Amino acid sequence: MVSLHRVSKAFGSVQALREVDLEVAAGEFCCFVGPSGCGKSTLLRLIAGLEDVCSGEIRIGGQPVNDRPPAQRGVAMVFQSYALYPHMSVFQNMAFGLQQSRTSRQAIRDRVEATAQLLQIEGLLERLPKQLSGGQRQRVAIGRAIVRQPRVFLFDEPLSNLDASLRQQTRVEIARLHAQLKTTMIYVTHDQIEAMTLADKIVVLHEGRVEQVGPPLWLYHHPANRFVAGFIGSPRMNFLPARLQRTGPPAELALPGGATQRAAVDASTLPVGAAVTCGIRPEHIRVVRAQDAALRGRVVLREQLGDHSLVFLRIGDGDELLTVKLAPGTEPEAEQHVGILMPPEHCHLFATDGRACPRLIA
Ligand SMILES: Nc1ncnc2c1ncn2[C@@H]1O[C@H](COP(=O)(O)OP(=O)(O)O)[C@@H](O)[C@H]1O
Ligand SMILES: [Mg+2]
Repeated sequence: MVSLHRVSKAFGSVQALREVDLEVAAGEFCCFVGPSGCGKSTLLRLIAGLEDVCSGEIRIGGQPVNDRPPAQRGVAMVFQSYALYPHMSVFQNMAFGLQQSRTSRQAIRDRVEATAQLLQIEGLLERLPKQLSGGQRQRVAIGRAIVRQPRVFLFDEPLSNLDASLRQQTRVEIARLHAQLKTTMIYVTHDQIEAMTLADKIVVLHEGRVEQVGPPLWLYHHPANRFVAGFIGSPRMNFLPARLQRTGPPAELALPGGATQRAAVDASTLPVGAAVTCGIRPEHIRVVRAQDAALRGRVVLREQLGDHSLVFLRIGDGDELLTVKLAPGTEPEAEQHVGILMPPEHCHLFATDGRACPRLIA
């Protein structure tokens, strides 16, 4: 179990993390996700002991570790750059950390061979890193962490240097590894799809703050604010400026152009007349004949991707385009005027400060 209590970190005048509170349960797969520079690596390095906190407390397995050096924290870290020793064989790279401890030669050999088998690199043990592909090198780096039998694995964007198909394959292997080892894993990525597919729990970071913590689908269905709503989900959620007409529940909004829209949310904390933002995901919008909807748009572009299509609509003369995801073969033509239906149960509502109104849907 890893827990952080009001952890802050500054580098000179740069406030990298602000009062981070977090609990990672034993055996959990936890992903830190957020845009570049939001503090993910710093948070991981604080847990590893590679940086010192400015304030706050970090506990691992219930014990405060603020004053413990990295080697005494029971963690093993895997970096984006594999950081293998170039002059050592795969075997030596994996065994190196253990040789520093008082493990017997036979125990080291057994552990390295078992780990190599787990990672399907048992045929590569005598090779040098330069004789390996990028994917193989990353597996050696993961293997080096596994042989140390840590209490917690820390991964910092371990797949970023791999090409797309290898990234997907390695992602599946990491998930399988977690299922087998059942060790606590904390995994940093800027890729929300990686986080969605791997995590039991996602921590969304933004400018050094925790924006929301929860299981992947909870964040998808109940984003706590506009930042999380826009970050989780691909293509990203559409946002329309609106004005609150009735707080509900369900709330009633005036959309650009005057169309009335209902949203299955409780907006009772906001005043009637408030400026709000209505959010809806591309996969939840329905396109109908223009005369069958109060909200209308013109098709600017279609992208046919085989298993689905994306259609981009312009509403009125606004700049923002509405993205709609449709089943192949159901797309309207370019330039066509269409009606847009937004089912109230799929509408999100955000106040001007970004906070989401609670949704009425489970
Ligand atoms: N050693 C350092 N010295 C100064 N600033 C740093 C250092 N490490 C990170 N930062 C700053 O802290 C912020 C968070 O960085 P980082 O944790 O690396 O973000 P991420 O991993 O999410 O991309 C950034 O503004 C970065 O420039
Ligand atoms: Mg980073």
